[in-house]
Amino acid sequence: MDLSRPLLHTLQACALTCLLAVDAKAQTADADAVARGAYLARAGDCVSCHTAQGGQPFAGGLRMDTPFGYLLTPNITPDAATGIGSWSADEFYRALHQGVNKRGQDMFPVMPFDFYTRVTRQDSDAIFAYLRSIAPVKNAVVVNHLRFPFNQRWSMAVWRELYFSEGSFKPDPGKSAAWNRGAYLVEGLGHCSACHSPRNALGGIEKDKAYTGATIDGWFALNLTSDLHTGLGSWTAEQIATYLKTGAVAGKTTALGPMAEVVKNSTSYLNDADLAAMGAYLKDLPANSTLRQGKPVPDPTRAAGASLYLDHCAGCHQAGGRGIPGVFPPLAGNGVVLAPDPADILKVVLLGVPAQGKYVPMPGFASQLSDQQVADLANYVRGSWGNTVAANTTAAMSARMRAAAGRYALAPSSRVFHHTTHMGYPAPPIAVIDATARMPGNRLH
Ligand code: HEC
Ligand code: HEC
Ligand code: HEC
Repeated sequence: MDLSRPLLHTLQACALTCLLAVDAKAQTADADAVARGAYLARAGDCVSCHTAQGGQPFAGGLRMDTPFGYLLTPNITPDAATGIGSWSADEFYRALHQGVNKRGQDMFPVMPFDFYTRVTRQDSDAIFAYLRSIAPVKNAVVVNHLRFPFNQRWSMAVWRELYFSEGSFKPDPGKSAAWNRGAYLVEGLGHCSACHSPRNALGGIEKDKAYTGATIDGWFALNLTSDLHTGLGSWTAEQIATYLKTGAVAGKTTALGPMAEVVKNSTSYLNDADLAAMGAYLKDLPANSTLRQGKPVPDPTRAAGASLYLDHCAGCHQAGGRGIPGVFPPLAGNGVVLAPDPADILKVVLLGVPAQGKYVPMPGFASQLSDQQVADLANYVRGSWGNTVAANTTAAMSARMRAAAGRYALAPSSRVFHHTTHMGYPAPPIAVIDATARMPGNRLH
């Protein structure tokens, strides 16, 4: 074809601009996906686990202890040799959705894929685009340091069979859009239930007790159902949103330990609409509690507890444990104080709390109080002013907390806070050994 030069030029120019236009469009689409992915990765708190103490974000190597040995988290930066640089979007989705790694192996559910399974394909692709956009870091990690037989990936079979079902999020048409968005975030990327729900001996969440609270890393993740006494019954959805945004609610409580990490690394980055949605969803969880309230029994240490309270605590938390709104949290009716497991109050009294929201820091009392005094105080605070938890705190518990205290930096200096151990490791020794013993070709015996 003989095209005159000007026409050719026009065509060429057009081809170029058209190409550029298409390209620019693709780039904005990419940039959008990357920005959305960065946000969703925050919602999923990927960085808390996939970053070693003092390490590069997402480069892996954080040690996660389990009763059966430990795992180091893998590198999920886009380094081709040691990270996910050679992964496809399909493989990445399969990891989140099915808990299967690139080599086709079952992953250990320390990676919370049993929650991420509800993440949509579109959101998974956005997170993938984001992770591909960050700087690759060369960091080879050997993930599996579990003991035999738990180091065998097939030992997950029992747990998978019983507790994992590939899911997708099904909106409830009877509920509002906000409620559904909240459900998607809380039950999916937020994996709130991973810490806040008790598990049975096999590591499965006890469905009838979901969100009633559980022990994690030596802390007690509180009841998030609408139980008035130990749960969020007396909170408004706005207060829940404020707590997730700032780690503190005036007149109520502040985020501690692992929850302070969640706020710092994840929920504080979420927008107000999403946080309000999460609050709305949580407020709709029916009241439920595992706490058996103790009958007030005459406690011989009560007088000692009362005088310790007046000497060391009342100056700030006030008589009657009523606190001062926005300055000192109340201890009467406070979930942290009322938890069935006294872990949180023990840690707070021993270690203190860094400043959060508009609250000033609280000093630790480890050097001033003996374990018996700490226990007497805890029993007193848990059993006074309408708080009716039985006096179940002992000096030995305080001693254990003191010994383990150093592991949790309550005032971390790094940007990334850390879980030191993790929930959710499934399968108790006996059941797995039983199951593996039945597996053809295993040489356990
Ligand atoms: C509670 C800790 C935790 C959180 C939160 C977490 N991960 Fe993981 N992740 C792990 C652990 C542990 C493994 C290793 C599991 C295994 O190999 O069995 C892992 C494995 C992976 C893998 C497979 C990598 C490989 O080389 O096999 C990918 C991909 C991944 N995570 C992505 C994510 C993303 C994306 C998020 C956030 C949406 C996230 N993870 C949040 C702990 C976590
Ligand atoms: C100097 C003032 C001060 C003293 C003394 C003090 N506290 Fe605190 N306490 C605070 C502040 C402030 C917070 C909230 C800190 C934050 O999160 O920023 C707090 C938090 C707490 C919490 C956690 C509450 C929550 O909802 O997260 C408990 C439990 C607690 N204090 C118990 C005690 C006990 C028991 C004593 C006595 C041994 C005591 N405090 C002494 C100021 C004090
Ligand atoms: C890594 C474990 C972990 C995860 C994941 C986690 N939490 Fe927590 N959460 C805790 C612990 C431990 C506490 C108790 C200490 C405290 O009061 O801060 C807590 C406390 C809370 C409280 C305060 C309750 C009260 O009565 O004072 C709220 C609200 C809360 N979490 C909401 C959430 C939501 C929503 C999510 C999901 C986005 C979530 N948590 C995910 C561990 C976790």
